[in-house]
Amino acid sequence: MQYAIVTGASRGLGESIARQLIEKNVNIIGVSRNENETLKTHAEQRNVEYTHIPCDLSNPEDLESGLDQMKEMAFHDDTHYVYLINNAGVIEPIDTVGNLEASAVQQHIQVNLTAPILMVNRLIQEANDRDIRMSVINITSGAAERAVHGWSTYCSTKAAINRFTETLALEQKGKGHIILAFSPGVMDTDMQGEIRSSNEEQFAEVEKFKELKRSGALRSPDQVAAVLLDLINQPKEIENGKVYKLYDLVD
Ligand SMILES: NC(=O)c1ccc[n+]([C@@H]2O[C@H](COP(=O)([O-])OP(=O)(O)OC[C@H]3O[C@@H](n4cnc5c(N)ncnc54)[C@H](OP(=O)(O)O)[C@@H]3O)[C@@H](O)[C@H]2O)c1
Repeated sequence: MQYAIVTGASRGLGESIARQLIEKNVNIIGVSRNENETLKTHAEQRNVEYTHIPCDLSNPEDLESGLDQMKEMAFHDDTHYVYLINNAGVIEPIDTVGNLEASAVQQHIQVNLTAPILMVNRLIQEANDRDIRMSVINITSGAAERAVHGWSTYCSTKAAINRFTETLALEQKGKGHIILAFSPGVMDTDMQGEIRSSNEEQFAEVEKFKELKRSGALRSPDQVAAVLLDLINQPKEIENGKVYKLYDLVD
């Protein structure tokens, strides 16, 4: 059996990835605070397992108990492959340094960086102990590679996840896992709505992002998920530890 643990499967890119994996008969373990009933129905219609683990990834106790459940559900004697898609992410706080709220920064780092690291830490050990191969996909952003006014926390966590991916790949060399980061480009999701709702003092590029929406330049998460699934369907072509960018994979 194949399992995919998809964080943030309740909406946006995570929902699209989970739906398209269901269509490939991969059993889904969705991890988020809210459940997505449409995915559940989609899986039932195809006789694929779909389980939602309610988990606030910013809460360390929730993460630990969620991880116990993920391990038990995805790693057993009938498992032959596990995908871990670290997709859940937050953009807030959007503001300049000096105006950041401590609790918002801490929650952000917990969701975007600590949770993915601790999830891989626990699950890759389980995979290696049981001799099960994994694909670890960390969803990153172009903001990892350029400074964006007002996004200091987001730029920092996405840059860190890129380096974490590279280090993980170095350590796991020869174990047969696929390990990559994927930068999805701008997508029409709730996160973009949050970006557009900030003001110019908080985020100097807000007008540019409003124009991306107006001009139809935001891709749908379904289009982006399809590109990611095409990529991981060709494991021999993949360079472990690399950041794959949507813009390099589409015309
Ligand atoms: N949208 C873009 O233009 C864009 C561009 C570059 C990179 N990205 C990256 O792509 C990924 C997906 O983004 P998206 O646009 O699909 O975002 P989104 O529509 O805002 O969805 C975010 C997802 O993360 C989950 N999440 C947020 N906080 C959580 C928490 N504390 N605990 C558990 N789950 C949490 C949400 O689930 P619940 O609310 O149900 O918990 C939701 O499913 C993110 O890593 C983002 O940084 C997005």
